[in-house]
Amino acid sequence: MAERLIELRDIVKSFGRVAALGGINLHVDKGEVVGLIGDNGAGKSTLIKILAGVVKPTSGEIFVRGQPVTGWSAAKSRAAGIETVFQDRALAVQQSIVTNIFMGRELAGPFGWLRLAQEEREARRLMREIGFTSRVFTPRSIVGQLSGGERQGVAIARAISRQADLIILDEPTTALSLTETEKVFHFVRRVKASGRSIVFIGHNIYHVFDIADRFVVLDRGKVVLETTRAETGSAERLIAFMQRVAHPTAAERAL
Ligand SMILES: Nc1ncnc2c1ncn2[C@@H]1O[C@H](COP(=O)(O)OP(=O)(O)OP(=O)(O)O)[C@@H](O)[C@H]1O
Ligand SMILES: [Mg+2]
Repeated sequence: MAERLIELRDIVKSFGRVAALGGINLHVDKGEVVGLIGDNGAGKSTLIKILAGVVKPTSGEIFVRGQPVTGWSAAKSRAAGIETVFQDRALAVQQSIVTNIFMGRELAGPFGWLRLAQEEREARRLMREIGFTSRVFTPRSIVGQLSGGERQGVAIARAISRQADLIILDEPTTALSLTETEKVFHFVRRVKASGRSIVFIGHNIYHVFDIADRFVVLDRGKVVLETTRAETGSAERLIAFMQRVAHPTAAERAL
């Protein structure tokens, strides 16, 4: 039996009269990569903001490792081991890699220089752990000099350094070339190999297909399809499945 990390049950989120989420069930198990897909406005970001505890659901239940949690918040989400790399405000590009990794919670130590050396060592270890293989960059390199995929790597390393069991990536490859996307996939595979879980958000199925074990498709605030990569076989077939859900034949509708 897979170890259940988190489960959302019947989550509803309304913004005034707009129902952004209309009763979502979602779970993530230990060591799996879940691809959350759907068009613009489907509710993906809202859903992960709820997971991150920064948006409060209008109704619904949240379970962490099988236990119901009340008063869900950003602090409780973090304590549950959930770290989110948000779509826009991910990194301080004028700062170094090490500064970005430890931003807001610098290691405690007696002397500044000692602490810095420690942080650099830890940053180097994290970068190795996720398979950041560039020889050009050191922990002191400025993030603005890194490629898009490498920047995602820094954000992932930061999440790991915060003891994440589940890392949520909101559209990490949307603005990236194929080569850069491959870099992000490489980091994600390393994170998975370490037993952590990932929720990978995208609206391009070709961007998520190769990396996810399981897909959850959102459409206008509802889960319209849930399937595995093994079951689906190819991105083309997943797209065909989705079209079936959106436009069933008369015979299917009658079922
Ligand atoms: N703070 C808010 N106030 C009002 N409506 C909101 C708010 N946040 C989201 N919405 C609405 O909720 C719906 C879902 O938005 P959301 O950002 O979750 O979609 P998304 O799937 O992440 O889209 P995208 O692919 O464009 O990032 C949209 O109709 C959006 O306009
Ligand atoms: Mg979004």
